[in-house]
Amino acid sequence: MLNTFLFVVLPYAALALFAFVTPYRYFSNRLTWSAYSTQFLERKTLYWGSNSWHYGVIPVVVAHFFGIFAPDAMQSILANRQALILLESAGLGLGLFALFGCLVLIVRRLVTPFLGPVTTAGDWILLALLLFQTATGVYMGMFLRWGSQWYLHTAVPYFHSLLLFHPQAEYMSDVPMVFKLHAAGAFLIVALLPFTKLVHLLYVPFDFLKDPPILYRWRSPKAGG
Ligand code: HEM
Repeated sequence: MLNTFLFVVLPYAALALFAFVTPYRYFSNRLTWSAYSTQFLERKTLYWGSNSWHYGVIPVVVAHFFGIFAPDAMQSILANRQALILLESAGLGLGLFALFGCLVLIVRRLVTPFLGPVTTAGDWILLALLLFQTATGVYMGMFLRWGSQWYLHTAVPYFHSLLLFHPQAEYMSDVPMVFKLHAAGAFLIVALLPFTKLVHLLYVPFDFLKDPPILYRWRSPKAGG
């Protein structure tokens, strides 16, 4: 029953919300389609939090997708023991980097008085979910070793069944609880995406790597308006 909810109802509900609410928000209120930068209120801690978070989590999530869309290639890469150890270690390092960034972003909002009034309940829920997601991922990386391999025989066929609209929750029914929670957390994040500032990831997501998110220009009286 719980498995059916977590691995059939939840993913399709999340997908439906994502598919319908995202375009609705885009066309009804485009100006809210952003991460609402708080850079001008506090920038030092943001630098450490945001960079560690993004540089850590993006490669890890891309690697998750690689397993889904190219499982055979991933399988043959990981068949080499040295490659497996190298990639798992890199994944764990990046995961820890992302976890550090996420914690910094949370602490920043807790300790910077200016940020209180611009932090919504949605921001807190999103940050808590991302922390949960990253912490459970890092936990698996540390204590349920070689996840990149067992993932190919559990989550990957399960995802393929979801994409073919023939969900087979059985692939996920015997995995450890922390893995179930990690997968369910991902569905919740997808469901919340169109309602929160996470929606910015659909909007030229890699531009922030070369530019600051927003350039603020002050118009001084001298500049003549
Ligand atoms: C919002 C989506 C997700 C985020 C942000 C995320 C994040 C992470 C992070 C930070 C790690 C630690 C990296 C490492 O130790 O290698 C991780 C590991 C892992 N994640 Fe996710 N994850 C997401 C979705 C999923 C989903 C949907 C699944 C499968 C159902 C999944 C399966 C795994 C597995 C098996 C590991 C362990 C990898 C290993 O031991 O090498 N993740 N995840």
